[in-house]
Amino acid sequence: MPDRHLTRLTIRRPDDWHLHLRDGDMLKAVVPETTRHFARAIIMPNLDPPVVTAQQAVAYRERIMAALPNGADFTPLMTLYLTETTDPEDVREAHAAGIATAVKLYPAGATTNSASGVRDFEKVRAVLAVMAEIGMPLCVHGEVTDQEIDIFDREATFIDRVLKPLRKKVPDLKVVMEHVTTQDAVDYVRDSNKNLAATITTHHLIINRNHILAGGIRPHYYCLPVAKREAHRVALVQAAVSGDKRFFLGTDSAPHTDPAKLQPCGCAGIFTAPNTMSCLAEVFFAAGRLRKIEDFASLNGPRFYGLKPNEATITLVKGDPVTYPAKIDTGDGPVTVFDPGFDLHWRVETD
Ligand code: NCD
Ligand code: ZN
Repeated sequence: MPDRHLTRLTIRRPDDWHLHLRDGDMLKAVVPETTRHFARAIIMPNLDPPVVTAQQAVAYRERIMAALPNGADFTPLMTLYLTETTDPEDVREAHAAGIATAVKLYPAGATTNSASGVRDFEKVRAVLAVMAEIGMPLCVHGEVTDQEIDIFDREATFIDRVLKPLRKKVPDLKVVMEHVTTQDAVDYVRDSNKNLAATITTHHLIINRNHILAGGIRPHYYCLPVAKREAHRVALVQAAVSGDKRFFLGTDSAPHTDPAKLQPCGCAGIFTAPNTMSCLAEVFFAAGRLRKIEDFASLNGPRFYGLKPNEATITLVKGDPVTYPAKIDTGDGPVTVFDPGFDLHWRVETD
């Protein structure tokens, strides 16, 4: 049966390869929104202060586990925030002990809580060498922070200025270029022969920069990397629905309260955890490639990370539009859920 005639599809339970869970009251409120559909997630370390050491990752993982809803079957895969003073042996031990799955590279100043990120890449050479040796992936926020570079060009510039030289120096390092937003990044990943993959977010498959800026400014569509023009969105959709094993889901679901988003200098981040699977089903179905959603959300990620896909399944079922709450309440304040701007016909049934 062609994909466009499907009204039900059972797939392995998905994972989220890039997720912000925050801490404290916010953590408690957002965790169930992810565990409802996802079995595992790569947890971003950009807390304040950031999760830098193995010890901090253990403590953060415990706080996440304590916030899980009763009966939830969810494994947080922890990351360490790379700084210029990260100890290579701490990283090695964290990986060997199953504490940290990956290391996160934020160029200093690139985004929310990234002040302790890397300025001088020579200073992290030894850590990267250890990671290459033990097969531990580096998750990269791929934007330069140079104020002279236009915000819409920062990802493409990062590839040339940082990623290419870095991968040349440490060719055995596994790199995930995260939340790619451009044709340039898609081409770069597609042209590489090994050790490189990319995550794509839910929202970058759906919005372009007009959604943020045309007809009024819409802070709930503002995130980093910022959405680009339509041709780039189309390139992302093509990559996602292609089944190419180098592309997989990382929602970058990044909750901020409405007061933090709606101000003269609002925070970057879009909260997509609750409705991601319904949004993705809509995108893949529209492309006539619904069956490829399993590759993108459930198979390609574990394959790159050297993990087994989940045994449990979810079923996507087409019907009357499903609704998700417009906002969720947290102890810190309301958080607005991503509005794709179209009806969602696919609901998610879990085992
Ligand atoms: C993220 C956040 O709020 O932590 N924001 C975002 O726009 N994606 C940080 C990040 O991943 O860049
Ligand atoms: Zn992120």
